Amino acid sequence: MSHSPASHTGPMHPTRRMEPMDDRQQLENYFATVDEAQLRLKATKPSDSRLRVAAKRLVPMDRRSQARMAVTNAVRPLERRKAARIEATTPRLRLHLGSGGEHKEGWINVDCVGDPVELAWNLAHGIPFGDASAEAIFHEHLFEHIPLRAGVGLMDECFRVLKPGGILRVGVPDAGALIRSYVGDGEYVDALHPGRPTGLIAVQELFYWHEHVTMFDDETLAMVFRAGGFPDPVRRKYGDTDLEWVPDTDTRASQTLYMEARKPLG
Ligand SMILES: C[S@@+](CC[C@H](N)C(=O)[O-])C[C@H]1O[C@@H](n2cnc3c(N)ncnc32)[C@H](O)[C@@H]1O
Repeated sequence: MSHSPASHTGPMHPTRRMEPMDDRQQLENYFATVDEAQLRLKATKPSDSRLRVAAKRLVPMDRRSQARMAVTNAVRPLERRKAARIEATTPRLRLHLGSGGEHKEGWINVDCVGDPVELAWNLAHGIPFGDASAEAIFHEHLFEHIPLRAGVGLMDECFRVLKPGGILRVGVPDAGALIRSYVGDGEYVDALHPGRPTGLIAVQELFYWHEHVTMFDDETLAMVFRAGGFPDPVRRKYGDTDLEWVPDTDTRASQTLYMEARKPLG
């Protein structure tokens, strides 16, 4: 059954319709661009280790995440010892969790095997550093990959590992802004996901793609901060931080909700 524009119950964003192409053709074109994007995403990247390049050749695409996690779990005893060495030799410990290809100088970058990291670690097993050992923790576009309950657990871990007065900075995709735009003028939706056949198709990419499992707006992210023991989380702009070095990734600027809090002193 085809839906005429008149049956569309969400807001219409007329600029997105590519008349006179018919609906079938618009969707087929969209699927073709989706397939291309998926291939680019899964191809080898300059930041991939040699092991990851080999794995990408050998392991089918739909098994790669699982395989990477299995290898990361297998090296856990080794990496736990490495974490103890890092903690003993790093006077100002700053952790960048879920760092992916965004290796940051001056930070201990933590992600799974295959990324350019100082520590290969599955964060489902907590953070392998001692209580009150770190002065800062940063993660950007990690939380949306973790189920909400486990995210609260990771927040507890950040609280435990931070020193009193230490700073936690978190960046997540701004799902609230995307939804407000969808029910409003559609400008932000178009800016982030240009040329999609409809506004909702653009919005659902954020919710269902890239192995995303949890979405955040200010209210939800602040709630998770407070649940983890940070009483006063504050939304911050890209680049605006109490940290000594701004860790934000420039390509994330327009799509990210940043929030920051200090662990209370007392
Ligand atoms: C979208 S990427 C973000 C990478 C980087 N922070 C950035 O902004 O480009 C999400 C990262 O979180 C990592 N990640 C997800 N779950 C994880 C877990 N349980 N333990 C360690 N890393 C995890 C993934 O391996 C991936 O590199």
